[in-house]
Amino acid sequence: MLRVIHAPNFSMQGRVALLTGAGRGIGLGIARALASAGCAVAIQDVDELVARDAARKIEDEGGRAIGLGGDISDAKVVASLPERVVQELGTLHVLVNNASIQSNSPWIEAKLEQMDRELRADLLMPILLCQKCVPYMRDQKWGRILNIGSIQQKQGNAGMMSYSLSKAALEKMTMTLANRLARDNITVNLIAPGYFDTVRNEKDRPRMAEIAKGIPVGRIGQPEDCGGIALLLCSEAGAYITGQSIYVDGGLSVA
Ligand SMILES: NC(=O)c1ccc[n+]([C@@H]2O[C@H](COP(=O)([O-])OP(=O)(O)OC[C@H]3O[C@@H](n4cnc5c(N)ncnc54)[C@H](O)[C@@H]3O)[C@@H](O)[C@H]2O)c1
Repeated sequence: MLRVIHAPNFSMQGRVALLTGAGRGIGLGIARALASAGCAVAIQDVDELVARDAARKIEDEGGRAIGLGGDISDAKVVASLPERVVQELGTLHVLVNNASIQSNSPWIEAKLEQMDRELRADLLMPILLCQKCVPYMRDQKWGRILNIGSIQQKQGNAGMMSYSLSKAALEKMTMTLANRLARDNITVNLIAPGYFDTVRNEKDRPRMAEIAKGIPVGRIGQPEDCGGIALLLCSEAGAYITGQSIYVDGGLSVA
Protein backbone atom coordinates (compact mmCIF):
# COMPACT_ATOMS: atom_id res chain seq x y z
CA MET A 1 0.00 0.00 0.00
CA LEU A 2 1.20 3.53 -0.83
CA ARG A 3 2.25 5.50 2.25
CA VAL A 4 1.57 9.21 1.75
CA ILE A 5 4.49 10.93 3.42
CA HIS A 6 4.30 14.42 1.99
CA ALA A 7 0.60 15.06 1.41
CA PRO A 8 -0.10 18.71 0.50
CA ASN A 9 -1.41 20.68 3.46
CA PHE A 10 -4.84 22.13 2.64
CA SER A 11 -5.78 22.69 6.28
CA MET A 12 -7.14 26.11 7.24
CA GLN A 13 -7.45 25.18 10.91
CA GLY A 14 -6.88 28.24 13.10
CA ARG A 15 -7.13 30.68 10.16
CA VAL A 16 -9.61 33.53 9.86
CA ALA A 17 -10.85 34.92 6.52
CA LEU A 18 -12.80 38.03 5.53
CA LEU A 19 -14.76 37.71 2.28
CA THR A 20 -16.62 40.68 0.80
CA GLY A 21 -19.92 40.34 -1.10
CA ALA A 22 -20.06 36.72 -0.01
CA GLY A 23 -23.64 36.19 1.15
CA ARG A 24 -24.36 34.49 -2.19
CA GLY A 25 -22.61 33.45 -5.38
CA ILE A 26 -18.89 32.95 -5.94
CA GLY A 27 -17.88 34.53 -2.61
CA LEU A 28 -20.11 32.11 -0.72
CA GLY A 29 -18.72 29.20 -2.75
CA ILE A 30 -15.22 30.22 -1.64
CA ALA A 31 -16.32 30.81 1.98
CA ARG A 32 -17.79 27.31 2.13
CA ALA A 33 -14.60 25.76 0.72
CA LEU A 34 -12.43 27.58 3.27
CA ALA A 35 -14.82 26.71 6.11
CA SER A 36 -14.77 23.04 5.09
CA ALA A 37 -11.00 23.06 5.74
CA GLY A 38 -11.42 24.57 9.22
CA CYS A 39 -11.21 28.31 8.48
CA ALA A 40 -13.40 30.73 10.45
CA VAL A 41 -15.10 32.98 7.89
CA ALA A 42 -16.47 36.52 8.11
CA ILE A 43 -19.08 36.81 5.38
CA GLN A 44 -19.67 40.44 4.41
CA ASP A 45 -22.58 41.51 2.19
CA VAL A 46 -24.56 44.67 1.47
CA ASP A 47 -27.58 42.57 2.40
CA GLU A 48 -26.83 41.91 6.06
CA LEU A 49 -29.66 39.39 6.46
CA VAL A 50 -28.27 37.33 3.59
CA ALA A 51 -24.79 37.47 5.16
CA ARG A 52 -26.09 36.36 8.56
CA ASP A 53 -28.17 33.59 7.02
CA ALA A 54 -25.18 32.27 5.04
CA ALA A 55 -23.05 32.36 8.21
CA ARG A 56 -25.72 30.53 10.21
CA LYS A 57 -25.89 27.75 7.60
CA ILE A 58 -22.11 27.28 7.76
CA GLU A 59 -22.32 27.12 11.56
CA ASP A 60 -25.15 24.58 11.32
CA GLU A 61 -22.80 22.43 9.23
CA GLY A 62 -20.14 22.60 11.96
CA GLY A 63 -18.09 25.57 10.72
CA ARG A 64 -17.30 28.91 12.38
CA ALA A 65 -18.81 31.95 10.65
CA ILE A 66 -20.16 35.46 11.23
CA GLY A 67 -22.20 37.70 8.93
CA LEU A 68 -21.46 41.40 8.46
CA GLY A 69 -23.38 44.08 6.53
CA GLY A 70 -22.33 47.24 4.68
CA ASP A 71 -21.88 48.64 1.19
CA ILE A 72 -18.43 47.92 -0.19
CA SER A 73 -18.38 51.22 -2.09
CA ASP A 74 -18.48 53.10 1.24
CA ALA A 75 -14.94 53.84 2.46
CA LYS A 76 -16.03 54.14 6.10
CA VAL A 77 -17.62 50.68 6.01
CA VAL A 78 -14.58 49.19 4.31
CA ALA A 79 -12.06 50.81 6.65
CA SER A 80 -13.85 49.42 9.70
CA LEU A 81 -14.32 45.84 8.42
CA PRO A 82 -10.96 44.27 9.38
CA GLU A 83 -11.20 45.57 12.95
CA ARG A 84 -14.75 44.22 13.27
CA VAL A 85 -13.51 40.79 12.14
CA VAL A 86 -10.63 40.83 14.62
CA GLN A 87 -12.97 41.88 17.43
CA GLU A 88 -15.32 38.97 16.71
CA LEU A 89 -12.99 36.23 15.50
CA GLY A 90 -9.76 37.18 17.26
CA THR A 91 -7.46 37.65 14.27
CA LEU A 92 -7.31 37.89 10.45
CA HIS A 93 -5.18 35.87 8.02
CA VAL A 94 -7.05 35.88 4.70
CA LEU A 95 -8.73 38.63 2.67
CA VAL A 96 -10.92 37.71 -0.30
CA ASN A 97 -11.76 40.84 -2.31
CA ASN A 98 -14.86 39.41 -3.97
CA ALA A 99 -17.60 42.09 -3.98
CA SER A 100 -18.02 44.11 -7.14
CA ILE A 101 -20.50 46.41 -8.82
CA GLN A 102 -21.15 45.95 -12.52
CA SER A 103 -23.33 48.10 -14.75
CA ASN A 104 -24.07 47.55 -18.40
CA SER A 105 -24.27 50.48 -20.79
CA PRO A 106 -22.50 51.50 -24.00
CA TRP A 107 -19.26 53.19 -22.90
CA ILE A 108 -20.19 56.41 -24.68
CA GLU A 109 -23.32 56.79 -22.54
CA ALA A 110 -21.79 55.77 -19.19
CA LYS A 111 -22.48 58.37 -16.48
CA LEU A 112 -19.56 59.78 -14.50
CA GLU A 113 -21.26 59.04 -11.15
CA GLN A 114 -21.72 55.37 -12.07
CA MET A 115 -18.16 55.00 -13.40
CA ASP A 116 -16.88 56.65 -10.23
CA ARG A 117 -18.84 54.24 -8.00
CA GLU A 118 -17.68 51.19 -9.95
CA LEU A 119 -14.00 52.15 -9.92
CA ARG A 120 -14.31 52.91 -6.21
CA ALA A 121 -16.04 49.63 -5.27
CA ASP A 122 -14.18 47.34 -7.67
CA LEU A 123 -10.66 48.73 -7.45
CA LEU A 124 -10.04 51.38 -4.79
CA MET A 125 -11.87 49.63 -1.95
CA PRO A 126 -9.95 46.35 -2.48
CA ILE A 127 -6.72 48.38 -2.22
CA LEU A 128 -7.99 50.09 0.95
CA LEU A 129 -8.89 46.68 2.41
CA CYS A 130 -5.38 45.41 1.67
CA GLN A 131 -3.95 48.45 3.46
CA LYS A 132 -6.11 47.70 6.51
CA CYS A 133 -5.63 43.90 6.56
CA VAL A 134 -1.90 43.58 5.84
CA PRO A 135 -0.76 44.86 9.27
CA TYR A 136 -2.63 41.94 10.95
CA MET A 137 -1.07 39.49 8.46
CA ARG A 138 2.41 40.95 9.00
CA ASP A 139 2.03 40.59 12.78
CA GLN A 140 1.45 36.87 12.25
CA LYS A 141 4.04 36.53 9.48
CA TRP A 142 1.39 34.73 7.42
CA GLY A 143 -1.28 36.02 5.08
CA ARG A 144 -3.27 35.39 1.94
CA ILE A 145 -4.92 37.95 -0.34
CA LEU A 146 -7.22 36.64 -3.02
CA ASN A 147 -8.63 39.10 -5.52
CA ILE A 148 -11.59 38.12 -7.67
CA GLY A 149 -11.08 39.42 -11.19
CA SER A 150 -12.92 38.42 -14.33
CA ILE A 151 -12.38 37.02 -17.78
CA GLN A 152 -13.04 40.64 -18.79
CA GLN A 153 -9.69 41.74 -17.36
CA LYS A 154 -8.25 40.04 -20.44
CA GLN A 155 -10.86 40.69 -23.09
CA GLY A 156 -12.19 44.12 -22.14
CA ASN A 157 -15.82 45.03 -22.72
CA ALA A 158 -17.03 48.37 -24.12
CA GLY A 159 -20.45 47.73 -22.55
CA MET A 160 -18.85 47.43 -19.10
CA MET A 161 -15.91 49.78 -19.45
CA SER A 162 -15.29 50.74 -15.79
CA TYR A 163 -15.88 47.17 -14.60
CA SER A 164 -13.43 45.57 -17.03
CA LEU A 165 -10.86 48.34 -16.41
CA SER A 166 -11.14 47.76 -12.67
CA LYS A 167 -10.60 44.03 -13.10
CA ALA A 168 -7.55 44.61 -15.34
CA ALA A 169 -6.14 46.98 -12.73
CA LEU A 170 -6.78 44.40 -10.00
CA GLU A 171 -4.51 42.03 -11.90
CA LYS A 172 -1.76 44.67 -11.83
CA MET A 173 -2.43 45.31 -8.14
CA THR A 174 -2.10 41.55 -7.53
CA MET A 175 1.33 41.45 -9.20
CA THR A 176 2.53 44.60 -7.43
CA LEU A 177 1.50 43.52 -3.92
CA ALA A 178 2.68 39.94 -4.45
CA ASN A 179 6.15 41.28 -5.07
CA ARG A 180 5.98 43.73 -2.17
CA LEU A 181 4.59 41.29 0.41
CA ALA A 182 6.41 38.05 -0.44
CA ARG A 183 9.03 38.49 2.31
CA ASP A 184 6.23 38.92 4.84
CA ASN A 185 4.99 35.42 3.96
CA ILE A 186 1.87 36.93 2.40
CA THR A 187 0.80 35.67 -1.02
CA VAL A 188 -1.43 37.65 -3.36
CA ASN A 189 -3.29 35.98 -6.21
CA LEU A 190 -6.33 36.50 -8.39
CA ILE A 191 -9.08 34.18 -9.56
CA ALA A 192 -10.70 35.24 -12.84
CA PRO A 193 -14.14 33.64 -13.27
CA GLY A 194 -15.67 33.20 -16.71
CA TYR A 195 -19.46 33.03 -16.79
CA PHE A 196 -21.22 31.89 -13.60
CA ASP A 197 -24.74 31.09 -12.48
CA THR A 198 -25.17 33.84 -9.86
CA VAL A 199 -27.59 36.63 -8.97
CA ARG A 200 -25.82 39.12 -11.26
CA ASN A 201 -26.58 36.94 -14.28
CA GLU A 202 -30.19 36.23 -13.26
CA LYS A 203 -31.50 38.18 -16.24
CA ASP A 204 -29.74 35.72 -18.58
CA ARG A 205 -31.53 32.70 -17.10
CA PRO A 206 -33.74 32.08 -20.17
CA ARG A 207 -30.64 31.94 -22.42
CA MET A 208 -28.21 30.09 -20.14
CA ALA A 209 -28.46 26.81 -22.07
CA GLU A 210 -27.50 28.75 -25.21
CA ILE A 211 -24.63 30.53 -23.41
CA ALA A 212 -23.34 27.16 -22.14
CA LYS A 213 -22.88 25.97 -25.72
CA GLY A 214 -20.20 28.66 -26.21
CA ILE A 215 -18.17 27.46 -23.20
CA PRO A 216 -15.68 24.68 -24.04
CA VAL A 217 -16.66 22.43 -21.10
CA GLY A 218 -20.30 22.86 -22.13
CA ARG A 219 -21.77 24.27 -18.94
CA ILE A 220 -22.12 27.45 -16.92
CA GLY A 221 -19.87 27.84 -13.85
CA GLN A 222 -21.35 27.18 -10.41
CA PRO A 223 -20.13 29.05 -7.28
CA GLU A 224 -18.43 25.93 -5.89
CA ASP A 225 -16.26 25.72 -9.04
CA CYS A 226 -14.03 28.45 -7.53
CA GLY A 227 -13.75 26.69 -4.16
CA GLY A 228 -10.94 24.26 -4.95
CA ILE A 229 -8.49 26.77 -6.39
CA ALA A 230 -9.33 29.25 -3.62
CA LEU A 231 -8.50 26.64 -0.98
CA LEU A 232 -5.22 25.80 -2.71
CA LEU A 233 -4.21 29.48 -2.90
CA CYS A 234 -5.26 30.23 0.69
CA SER A 235 -3.72 27.18 2.36
CA GLU A 236 -0.13 26.15 3.03
CA ALA A 237 -0.29 23.96 -0.07
CA GLY A 238 -0.26 27.16 -2.18
CA ALA A 239 2.60 28.88 -0.34
CA TYR A 240 4.84 29.04 -3.42
CA ILE A 241 2.19 30.54 -5.72
CA THR A 242 2.01 34.33 -5.74
CA GLY A 243 1.24 37.15 -8.18
CA GLN A 244 -0.82 34.88 -10.44
CA SER A 245 -4.14 35.22 -12.24
CA ILE A 246 -5.93 31.88 -12.53
CA TYR A 247 -8.85 31.64 -14.93
CA VAL A 248 -11.77 29.52 -13.74
CA ASP A 249 -13.88 29.66 -16.86
CA GLY A 250 -14.44 26.21 -18.33
CA GLY A 251 -11.96 27.13 -21.07
CA LEU A 252 -13.78 30.30 -22.21
CA SER A 253 -10.60 32.41 -22.24
CA VAL A 254 -8.95 30.00 -24.67
CA ALA A 255 -11.99 29.34 -26.86
N1 LIG B 1 -21.00 35.81 -12.04
C1 LIG B 1 -20.12 35.85 -13.04
O1 LIG B 1 -20.37 35.35 -14.15
C2 LIG B 1 -18.78 36.52 -12.83
C3 LIG B 1 -17.88 36.51 -13.90
C4 LIG B 1 -16.65 37.11 -13.73
C5 LIG B 1 -16.31 37.69 -12.53
N2 LIG B 1 -17.20 37.68 -11.50
C6 LIG B 1 -16.77 38.31 -10.26
O2 LIG B 1 -16.97 37.42 -9.17
C7 LIG B 1 -17.29 38.16 -7.98
C8 LIG B 1 -18.56 37.61 -7.40
O3 LIG B 1 -19.57 37.68 -8.37
P1 LIG B 1 -21.01 37.01 -8.17
O4 LIG B 1 -21.58 36.87 -9.53
O5 LIG B 1 -20.92 35.87 -7.25
O6 LIG B 1 -21.74 38.21 -7.40
P2 LIG B 1 -23.29 38.56 -7.28
O7 LIG B 1 -23.57 39.74 -8.13
O8 LIG B 1 -24.11 37.33 -7.51
O9 LIG B 1 -23.40 39.06 -5.79
C9 LIG B 1 -22.82 38.40 -4.72
C10 LIG B 1 -23.19 39.15 -3.46
O10 LIG B 1 -22.62 40.46 -3.48
C11 LIG B 1 -23.49 41.32 -2.76
N3 LIG B 1 -23.26 42.73 -3.10
C12 LIG B 1 -23.73 43.42 -4.17
N4 LIG B 1 -23.34 44.71 -4.10
C13 LIG B 1 -22.60 44.82 -2.97
C14 LIG B 1 -21.94 45.91 -2.33
N5 LIG B 1 -21.99 47.14 -2.85
N6 LIG B 1 -21.29 45.69 -1.16
C15 LIG B 1 -21.28 44.44 -0.62
N7 LIG B 1 -21.89 43.39 -1.16
C16 LIG B 1 -22.54 43.57 -2.32
C17 LIG B 1 -24.88 40.83 -3.16
O11 LIG B 1 -25.87 41.20 -2.20
C18 LIG B 1 -24.70 39.32 -3.29
O12 LIG B 1 -25.13 38.62 -2.16
C19 LIG B 1 -17.37 39.62 -8.43
O13 LIG B 1 -16.16 40.27 -8.18
C20 LIG B 1 -17.60 39.54 -9.92
O14 LIG B 1 -17.10 40.68 -10.59
C21 LIG B 1 -18.43 37.11 -11.63
